[in-house]
Amino acid sequence: MTQTYKEQYRPQFHFSPEEKWMNDPNGMVFFNDEYHLFYQYHPFGTTWGPMHWGHAVSKDMIHWEHLPIALYPDELGAIFSGSAVVDWNNTTGFFEKDNPGLVAIYTSAGTYPDSDRPLQQQSLAYSKDNGRTWVKYEGNPVLSDVNITDYRDPKVFWHEETNKWVMVLATGQTITIYTSLNLKEWEFASEFGHAAGSHAGVWECPDLFKLPVDSGQEKWVMIVSIGDNGQSAEGSRTQYFIGEFDGKTFVNDYDDSTILWLDYGRDNYAGVSWSDIQDGRRIYLGWMSNWRYANQVPTEAWRSAMTLPRELSLAETEAGIRLIQQPVAEVSRIRKETESYPKMSVESGNSVSIPLTHSLTEITIEFEKENSSQFGLIIEHSDEEKTVIGYNAAEEKLFVDRTLSGEHSFSASFQAVQEAPLKLDNQRLKLQLFLDASSIEVFANNGEAAITSLLFPSESGQELILFSNEGTTNVLELNVTELDSIWSK
Ligand code: FRU
Repeated sequence: MTQTYKEQYRPQFHFSPEEKWMNDPNGMVFFNDEYHLFYQYHPFGTTWGPMHWGHAVSKDMIHWEHLPIALYPDELGAIFSGSAVVDWNNTTGFFEKDNPGLVAIYTSAGTYPDSDRPLQQQSLAYSKDNGRTWVKYEGNPVLSDVNITDYRDPKVFWHEETNKWVMVLATGQTITIYTSLNLKEWEFASEFGHAAGSHAGVWECPDLFKLPVDSGQEKWVMIVSIGDNGQSAEGSRTQYFIGEFDGKTFVNDYDDSTILWLDYGRDNYAGVSWSDIQDGRRIYLGWMSNWRYANQVPTEAWRSAMTLPRELSLAETEAGIRLIQQPVAEVSRIRKETESYPKMSVESGNSVSIPLTHSLTEITIEFEKENSSQFGLIIEHSDEEKTVIGYNAAEEKLFVDRTLSGEHSFSASFQAVQEAPLKLDNQRLKLQLFLDASSIEVFANNGEAAITSLLFPSESGQELILFSNEGTTNVLELNVTELDSIWSK
């Protein structure tokens, strides 16, 4: 028997359930010094099945303590994705004065009475003991619409300016916005997105929040995940919109044809942000898989992991305002020794080889292009297996090529080159890479682009190779840091 968290491919510094199937993060809320992470969970198998909410808590979003299943299916159906909030002012009446608690707002995924036609409705559960036990509201469901089949994934937040709760809900291929005074009665406010952005699949798992921009103004960001329609090469992926929100209506700043992708890798889906973080940060975490092959990835005891938690911000770029993401500062807690290398020049036909002695690694590297057409680094997992992280100067694209990174036979879609459009910054490219047992996360130019990708290399003894094609590239900075397992207590 393998020991838990020691299995082949088992993520060592990303959250994964002890056993069985996991998909979307749910109910992310910070309360009484704990970050809660609930998640779509199937406790009886390693493929998707009747959904429960699994549960874990953390003091730092990096080290997690598993807790018992929080929500079980009931007569209204399985427990699909949703959110959780702190009801500070007891708007629901579920709590006692001066003793606020948590309310989860989730989708009850059932069927119509006497038929197996799907019926999705929104329900509430509340907890008075820091999320350890939950009571389902006796008035469930609190929101139904019998005319819409895909009607799910409520994300709720308190809108200060109008003194109301706001819910964004995925409704087919739009986002419907509702408001409420008490989380129990909801009023339709508006619908967004008929023509805007990508409609390559069903819209799922929305989020909506405000962030400051450098210039002092504030903008609203709407995140929308798009399901796998079986057609596109990418499978399921996540887009975002930037605009204005007045408590009822979201107005997109860009024209309908603009599509902004949150991540250019294949494996960051259904992510949303934590509610009620008090220090002003907006922190996001996604499910590190893709519906195209999530049920087939070659792991046995468990299936799926989450991305690292990422702090979101907005920046003004040449192309307009864009979402920036960086791993949370708390990742410093898993850093061990760092090896720093002196500045060097990499010539074409003369790559530089550096041993990678740790399988869990963070690499920060800054390239300065002289006259090369392509440059980057290769992670050689073994003689036959490698992952290439590079920059194509002519196309102005950052890429992560996992075609030869290891096991891929479980899905014809897995071998892929993942590309992000990215301009060099004064001929420079800064990368921050996190390499775990079966994933790589790449953040470029301080979070301007992200590529999140699963990899299934058969070995973890590695070598790092710096390359430069058709010219010279300088490496101004290279730091290789060993990372610690979060499960090794
Ligand atoms: C997104 C999703 C949600 C749904 C959940 C079911 O990955 O399809 O729309 O609530 O997963 O597990």
